[in-house]
Amino acid sequence: MRHLMNPLDFSVEELDKLFDLANDMEKNPKKYAECCHGKKLATCFYEPSTRTRLSFEAAMMNLGGNVLGFSSADSSSAAKGESVSDTIRVISSYADICAMRHPKEGAPMVAASRSRIPVINAGDGGHQHPTQTLTDLLTIRSLKGRLGNFTIGLCGDLKFGRTVHSLIEALCRYEGVQFIFISPEELKVPDYIIELLKSKNIDYTEVISLEEVMPQLDLLYMTRVQRERFFNEEDYIRLKDFYILNKSKMEMAKEDMLVLHPLPRVNEISVEVDDDPRAAYFEQAQYGVYVRMALIYTLLGIGEE
Ligand code: CP
Repeated sequence: MRHLMNPLDFSVEELDKLFDLANDMEKNPKKYAECCHGKKLATCFYEPSTRTRLSFEAAMMNLGGNVLGFSSADSSSAAKGESVSDTIRVISSYADICAMRHPKEGAPMVAASRSRIPVINAGDGGHQHPTQTLTDLLTIRSLKGRLGNFTIGLCGDLKFGRTVHSLIEALCRYEGVQFIFISPEELKVPDYIIELLKSKNIDYTEVISLEEVMPQLDLLYMTRVQRERFFNEEDYIRLKDFYILNKSKMEMAKEDMLVLHPLPRVNEISVEVDDDPRAAYFEQAQYGVYVRMALIYTLLGIGEE
């Protein structure tokens, strides 16, 4: 039995296979429409979500399976004090696979250690968001035609943004990736990420100005300032609109630069950018369904049956 806790749990070769499968599922939906018939996915979400929970559910439905679950801690027995360990032991009797989001770092790992079914980390606190990373990688590979040999700017809340941490770690395994980290001083990428890049001799720069680096970028990964992770509302208000991508900034970018965002967005991308052909964030959310279909299929060992 295999879980997904971190995007690095899959080798580069395994990810290539997963992305090929996701692309095939996109092109040939009928071929896979019944492959999870009789299987159940449990979505155990202790934290709010639109894309991750609903795309997991859509993915399982597209494969002919069923879904059950809860969408907040308050609507589960966590509100009565039940532990994640006890919950997953019970869910193991009800479902074949589980996607779990939790505000505490490491909670899905605790669940995996007690589970009799595969557990997928659907986001744990400010730590990791591996299925968003799979979504990001599939989007880049599908739209750019390659993973590697590009300059990526990551902009916004690089301290608390778990999607950023997972994506950087995953991209470190590909050749020729240059990172430009664009953030205010208070929201810089954590030290452990910088240490990782240094240990691998990977090129990175840290800047405050987005305009300054815009012409260099092949990809711009915008992020929301993570209000829910701030201890102090005043700090959030001061920093929340630090970056706003608009049409005039897009004029400084390459003609084939892609704008990605894990969503939800607040103000950091002006809606006037949505019609720009380089704005790929809604397409990215669609790729999230295909990659989760491929992941469920793989972790359930469907192709091996
Ligand atoms: N990208 C993402 O995780 O979105 P949700 O919080 O809506 O799931």
